[in-house]
Amino acid sequence: MRYSRRDFLKATAGSGLIALTTGSDGVVAAFAAPPVPIPTPMTKETATFNINGRNYQAEYEARTTLWEVIAVKLGLTGTNRSCNRASCGACSVLLDGTPFYSCHTLAMEAVGKKIFTVEGLGDEKNLHPMQKIGYLYMAADCGFCTPGWEVTAKGLLDKNLNPSVDEVKSALAGHICRCAAYSAIIRTVIDTGKVLRGEAEL
Ligand code: FES
Ligand code: FES
Repeated sequence: MRYSRRDFLKATAGSGLIALTTGSDGVVAAFAAPPVPIPTPMTKETATFNINGRNYQAEYEARTTLWEVIAVKLGLTGTNRSCNRASCGACSVLLDGTPFYSCHTLAMEAVGKKIFTVEGLGDEKNLHPMQKIGYLYMAADCGFCTPGWEVTAKGLLDKNLNPSVDEVKSALAGHICRCAAYSAIIRTVIDTGKVLRGEAEL
């Protein structure tokens, strides 16, 4: 391709580069395109986070993770951060009903969405059936993974109250239990479905 002097001048002007040109009198002149304005980087923002049906205000930076907002800034410490590598699932929360690893979700991605954490499931005075059944089946040993899979299982049961074992395994595939309580966890989710469907009692 032939590249003309005119093309060169157009390109350098567009990119803001300085171009030199020599006049007939031998004087070298320089000209430059006006600098392109650089957007100001975001430092801090304040937004409303809707967590378990309640609105919270929190300040965050572009790099702040959702876990940092939930657990550190707002003090909802039920959501555990374990690997911090998007591998174990301990930090899972629901965003508009879909599970996300909060350690690898930016806070800004959750603004305007409905966030569900383990605190929304139940508490020591009012346990959710899944928590009662999990306790009976010893589906937790150290308990570090528990808030994560419970929240994901809640998301599954909200969509499908009668999941098969394979569907439970598939939904919980992103969760690692270092204490290997897997069989008790799966039984817990299946039997929680039975209670919520009214086919079993606690
Ligand atoms: S702490 Fe987020 S996936 Fe392990
Ligand atoms: S109960 Fe210990 S990691 Fe699951």
